[in-house]
Amino acid sequence: MKKLITTLVLVVSAAVTYVQAESSNIATLRDNTALNEQKKTTAIPKVINSDIKQKRSYPMQPPIIPHTTRNYEVTLNSNKCMSCHSRQRTEESQAPMVSVTHYMDREGNFLAEISPRRYFCNQCHVNQFDTKPEVENTFVDMHTQTKQNAKAK
Ligand code: HEC
Ligand code: HEC
Repeated sequence: MKKLITTLVLVVSAAVTYVQAESSNIATLRDNTALNEQKKTTAIPKVINSDIKQKRSYPMQPPIIPHTTRNYEVTLNSNKCMSCHSRQRTEESQAPMVSVTHYMDREGNFLAEISPRRYFCNQCHVNQFDTKPEVENTFVDMHTQTKQNAKAK
């Protein structure tokens, strides 16, 4: 019986410490919202569907997708993206062809079909949401940087 009481006391005090930690300044997923309150939810941002290409921040950047991709499946049997972006389909779809790198294996050989390394498009290409960045970003691209350096001299 004594053992049981000691265990209970320990469990309760651990729970109290946990709740105290929750209400202090430790970053939590609930953003320090009190336990008995419902956190205000933010609206889900819209996907930008302008069909306008966005600037690439550096030459090797996978371009951002300028259209919605909802329900575009990429599975073992079909690749919706390639139904517009493959070499054979671009005339009909007027979509830009996936670049030639997408038909290369890692030894640099050209393949007839999309390389398995490039099959899962969303691994690299993403939609752009109409929203502010969550985290401040001070990225400066090389072009701007070299101009700034030249001015500083
Ligand atoms: C119905 C045809 C169609 C499908 C399906 C499609 N696209 Fe596109 N995509 C286009 C067209 C057309 C453009 C040219 C810009 C525009 O009109 O939106 C484009 C543009 C792009 C670009 C921009 C290229 C650049 O140079 O900036 C990327 C990246 C892209 N698509 C990726 C994808 C991915 C990934 C998928 C699958 C999830 C996909 N697309 C499915 C038609 C399609
Ligand atoms: C491993 C990353 C990766 C994957 C997977 C990938 N891409 Fe790309 N994609 C890139 C990069 C990087 C570029 C820009 C450099 C280049 O062309 O290789 C690019 C360029 C493109 C372009 C622009 C071509 C041009 O010449 O302007 C299109 C369109 C595109 N990808 C579509 C797709 C589609 C559709 C898929 C899926 C079938 C796909 N990509 C899979 C990384 C990827």
